[in-house]
Amino acid sequence: MILNLKIFRYDPGKDEKPYYQNFEVDADPMDRLLDCLNKIRWEQDPSLSFRMSCGHGICGSDGMRVNGISALPCQKVVKDFKEGEEILIEPLAVFRVVKDLIVDMEPFFERYYSIRPYLITKSPPPEKERLQSVEERQKFEDATRCILCACCTASCPINQAKETANYIGPAALVRSYRYLFDSRDEGHDERLALLDHKDGVWGCKTRWWCTKVCPKQIPVTIEIAATRKSIYDITKKTK
Ligand code: SF4
Ligand code: FES
Repeated sequence: MILNLKIFRYDPGKDEKPYYQNFEVDADPMDRLLDCLNKIRWEQDPSLSFRMSCGHGICGSDGMRVNGISALPCQKVVKDFKEGEEILIEPLAVFRVVKDLIVDMEPFFERYYSIRPYLITKSPPPEKERLQSVEERQKFEDATRCILCACCTASCPINQAKETANYIGPAALVRSYRYLFDSRDEGHDERLALLDHKDGVWGCKTRWWCTKVCPKQIPVTIEIAATRKSIYDITKKTK
């Protein structure tokens, strides 16, 4: 089956401005779009640049836009496209393009680290591990599926708008939720304080794009709402 990929190209070392290049790929219907990109790189143009590692929706490294929507090409099956259809492949929005489909993820990870993405403990360590019941674990189970692909943050209209670009973004908020609702974490109030500002959890305007594009089906918008409620409950208690 022949696919026609229209790919964003830009090498700041030699191109004055970005352009699009079309490639035809003869693909098996059960191939993934990522296989097509690899075929282009191996058989047509070795300079085509994109990130990938696992090829199976686990590492989160191949986030890009497919027909305008943030996605992982390793999860897009060729048979779901029409023969001869032109498929638009572009880098994730929001981030600076380093080369072709590779974007600078530094600002994404800076925000991720700002929420303290690890268990905060204050009590002395127990003799063995810190135990947790199945029910306690289930409270944040969905959030543990996050692979930090940045598809949500890149799709968020708030992150995309210049005036609100400092918004911490849905991926950092999902990771924060993962620890906030972990029964072993003892940094609840200080975590919430980190998020209680206009570029933190209140920056979200509930547009749901994050939830729509998340390749791990995490209920991102609902988790952001639960974090807001925690802040609201604390504020009510202290009044
Ligand atoms: Fe990717 Fe979903 Fe995690 Fe966002 S929440 S970084 S879309 S896996
Ligand atoms: Fe690892 Fe797609 S290549 S998630």
